[in-house]
Amino acid sequence: MRSPPHLSASILNADFARLGEEVERATAAGVDSIHLDVMDGHFVDNLTFGPVAVDAVRPHSALPFHSHLMISRPLAYAERFAQAGSDLIVFHVEADDEPRAVIAEIERAGKRPGIALNPETPAEAVVPWLDQVDLLLVMTVHPGWGGQSFMHEVVPKLQMLREVVDRRHLEVHIGVDGGVNLETIGVSHESGGDVLVVGSALYSTAGDLAPTVAALRAAAHGELPADH
Ligand code: DX5
Ligand code: ZN
Repeated sequence: MRSPPHLSASILNADFARLGEEVERATAAGVDSIHLDVMDGHFVDNLTFGPVAVDAVRPHSALPFHSHLMISRPLAYAERFAQAGSDLIVFHVEADDEPRAVIAEIERAGKRPGIALNPETPAEAVVPWLDQVDLLLVMTVHPGWGGQSFMHEVVPKLQMLREVVDRRHLEVHIGVDGGVNLETIGVSHESGGDVLVVGSALYSTAGDLAPTVAALRAAAHGELPADH
């Protein structure tokens, strides 16, 4: 039986001048976790923030922090993101370090490991690790920026990974990250995602985010607002 959709707020498109308040805004609106996009300007062609920023916003929410490391050397930084207050640390299977070593390092730091794969990376690359991680993050955009369009061509891979996880009765959750909004959250959930990362579709709204969160939850079950 699939777990109800878990909404994770990506703060990449939030107002960085007020990041703590933006984390509070999503928390107050009822999301299930905070998604922190870490980019090193090497694994992806963008630079965002490091452990210092995670540590700075940690006191602003009691929700789980999912740190999404789009960095080439996760092994060297996992401990620092753990100490900064991450609860789940996601690294990319395409990164330079050997996945088994990164998973062991995250567990040694007392945190939950997650593994991510880019749109062009075949499912086979992550299958060996599915019984060793808490989250499998399926990228539905090329990592590096928020506000990109959802890549529907990734859906067959998502469906296949969901089928593998269910057939093997694995505990791992499947996340969908990139371009998830009112139009695409339904297919993301239907096709196998249970952790749905939402960035620009959330933070493009000013003020109270609760109506947007409620509409996204309903749309995950195929109920689109009347004006859609
Ligand atoms: C992209 C990031 C995503 C992104 C999501 O590299 O990993 O988490 O911020 O933002 P939207 O929902 O706007 O695509
Ligand atoms: Zn992300």
